[in-house]
Amino acid sequence: MYVYLNGKLVPSKEASVSVFDHGFLYGDGIYETMRVYDGVIFKLDEHIKRLYRSASLIGLTIPLETDALKISVYETLIANSLRNAYLRLTVSRGRGALGLNPELCPEPTVVIIAQKFKEYPKTLYQNGISMIVSSIRRNLKEAINPQIKSLNFLNNILARIEAKRAGAYEAIMLNANGELTEGTVCNVFFYKSGVLYTPSLECGILDGITRGTIIDLAIREYMKVKEGRFTKEDIYSAEEVFITNTTLEVMPVSKTDKSEYNIGNVTKLLHKAYRKEVNAYVADVKAEEPSIWGLNI
Ligand code: PDD
Repeated sequence: MYVYLNGKLVPSKEASVSVFDHGFLYGDGIYETMRVYDGVIFKLDEHIKRLYRSASLIGLTIPLETDALKISVYETLIANSLRNAYLRLTVSRGRGALGLNPELCPEPTVVIIAQKFKEYPKTLYQNGISMIVSSIRRNLKEAINPQIKSLNFLNNILARIEAKRAGAYEAIMLNANGELTEGTVCNVFFYKSGVLYTPSLECGILDGITRGTIIDLAIREYMKVKEGRFTKEDIYSAEEVFITNTTLEVMPVSKTDKSEYNIGNVTKLLHKAYRKEVNAYVADVKAEEPSIWGLNI
């Protein structure tokens, strides 16, 4: 396996980062997770755009132009001969002396890891996952804005530990006002009385790329969609609940700490529509940009 490290593709055993890297020392950095379907990176432009936004929000200059970065991502994929893959693009502040000052780090560290995509068990999609409402509150957007997809993931990890201890798969966090936000690695939707609901960006969440796609698809399917401020009671009284992210796509939730749900028609329909969207996207990219997705960069 080859890993992209600061402009070079190196065997994974040689892909090491300094113990003085501020990503390691302080969680100072950002990342994106992408999914590759049949050799095409789904929504690459959106992921790259969000990476640059995260960089800008932490005052980090990515040492590559967007096109060069996109080519590097594809080159990593191709070097590993992968067609269905998981991609992780990380940019840390880089190596520097001890201390918080970002100016101690002259060069950011850029890493791209491509791995074969390991499918989630089908039974999870058939039976749904369990989710708790965590006692850990989501970072205040005025403190560490969840729109920064940062390496500093302790907030989410604490909620995930709580979920694990409770025997649950995921945890949804509330914000400081007690409003629903998001899961530890996903966005959350619920359906009730003919309306699809999801917490709005103002609640302090990552604007998930999958979330955006699902909202568009639901509108296209003539569903009523409401982004807003909701409480845990709203989720407990919902008819259907599901979570979304790049790797899970649409995953049904069958129970929370207080309620149980059927894997309903809305969840099934939206997952089907998402799959169709992925297929159409892959076909479009192959038709329009053979030089990018193919092997002849
Ligand atoms: N996580 N919210 C959080 C906190 C996330 O970490 C993620 C993604 C999402 C969904 O975003 P998207 O739909 O763009 O994948 C929401 C990725 C998968 C990760 O951490 O690897």
